[in-house]
Amino acid sequence: MIEYRPLRIALLGAGSVGAQVARLLTENKAELAARVGAELELVGILVRDTAAARPAGFPSELITTDADALILGADIVIEVMGGIEPARTYILQALNSGSDVITANKALLATHGTELFDTAEQVGAQLYFEAAVAAAIPIIRPLRESLAGDKVTRVMGIVNGSTNYILDRMDTDGISLDAAMVEATNLGYLEADPTLDVEGYDAAQKAAILAYLAFHTEVPIEKVHREGITQITPELMAAAKRDGNVIKLLAIAERIDADKYGEEGVSVRVYPTLIPRTHPLGSVRGAFNAVFVEAESAGQLMFYGAGAGGTQTASAILGDLVSAAKRHVAGGPGLADSVHANLPVLPIDRIYTRYQITLEANDQPGVLATIANIFAANEVSIEFVEQYPSPGRNTANLEVGTHEATEAALSAVVRALEASSAVDTITSVIRLEGI
Ligand code: NDP
Ligand code: HSE
Repeated sequence: MIEYRPLRIALLGAGSVGAQVARLLTENKAELAARVGAELELVGILVRDTAAARPAGFPSELITTDADALILGADIVIEVMGGIEPARTYILQALNSGSDVITANKALLATHGTELFDTAEQVGAQLYFEAAVAAAIPIIRPLRESLAGDKVTRVMGIVNGSTNYILDRMDTDGISLDAAMVEATNLGYLEADPTLDVEGYDAAQKAAILAYLAFHTEVPIEKVHREGITQITPELMAAAKRDGNVIKLLAIAERIDADKYGEEGVSVRVYPTLIPRTHPLGSVRGAFNAVFVEAESAGQLMFYGAGAGGTQTASAILGDLVSAAKRHVAGGPGLADSVHANLPVLPIDRIYTRYQITLEANDQPGVLATIANIFAANEVSIEFVEQYPSPGRNTANLEVGTHEATEAALSAVVRALEASSAVDTITSVIRLEGI
């Protein structure tokens, strides 16, 4: 039996996600009330354009442009407007007035997360953000709660659906990056500014949020190393396929042990990498997302599903809403996430990874020895060398895979190879993960 007073829910934004939140709140009103023990009453929906067309069944009578009245009169505020301002100001206003806040805004969390979390903690409110990373996939709550008693060592994810779609199309049908981007645009996968996706900004924001939770450490977005997918060619894709690999844009957050590297810290980075097709992340196709977590006691875990979409994202928001509403009914302050570890975020040149360098070498005696010597002189250990014919050219196509090396050592190798008469062209330098 429902005894608690109705909880007043304010919705900021009625776009792809907000419209679906409004629909689910309306359609599932009775069931949600039964689960929470209180009615969830949608009291207003903030938009910019009151005259804009809304989906059929949308509760247009709740539309408003009066942010102050809506926010100050709510128990729980859902922010699905996106962008930094005025979303930041509205969330701070809501928290300071004692409301819990639910947001899907990864850009805001990655840039102003500390300010928002600190404010929530000071006033005893709670900030929920399950939808901010990989939309429908439950990954925030597992890191925040389920794995809270374990030691997470690495989080490696495909957290940007549009770039995974683009890379998958290039892999499957050998089409160009531009052609795959046109398809992704037509399917509505890319952000309005596609550089956010293809240059890795969106994935970097999500990586910062995942690292914050996994390692109890603040990760300023400018310390996330970021490379996009614009250098990936059909030729690179084909070579990866020939070797049993696939290229994925990975967001990696890793705990770096002091005994191996001299200083304990975390590394947070986004770049395209080769991974074996047999790796669980290698089989993530289309616009799907997946996050692969390694923890000391739990071992390897994989979270997979839809990383975007209005209804899918709304599912994660409704999950947060039920949690927030139950907490209101039960009483008690919000629980802040701990950043007690506060590990340093290490720069990319301190990180050890494996690389594959593809080059065209002059096909003459002694060339292989010259190339091997360049790696040895820079203390980069070769793990494998594959040679393929280069039809119509007087060169040999070489793939050189390395053992773990630092970025600095690898850069020195690349510079020396470029200067060597043994090498005609360096075709690509790409990292290998998951092997
Ligand atoms: P949309 O652009 O579709 O919708 C934004 C909504 O916010 C619109 O209704 C808009 O009003 C309103 N709005 C924007 N600025 C203002 C403002 N200054 N004042 C009042 N209202 C404003 O965005 P999405 O629904 O796609 O995304 C919302 C959030 O969810 C973003 O943070 C995004 O990163 C996140 N997200 C989205 C996913 C997706 O698949 N779409 C997946 C995961 C997260 P109006 O309608 O009048 O223009
Ligand atoms: N542009 C994002 C993506 C949307 O492609 O994954 C979801 O955050």
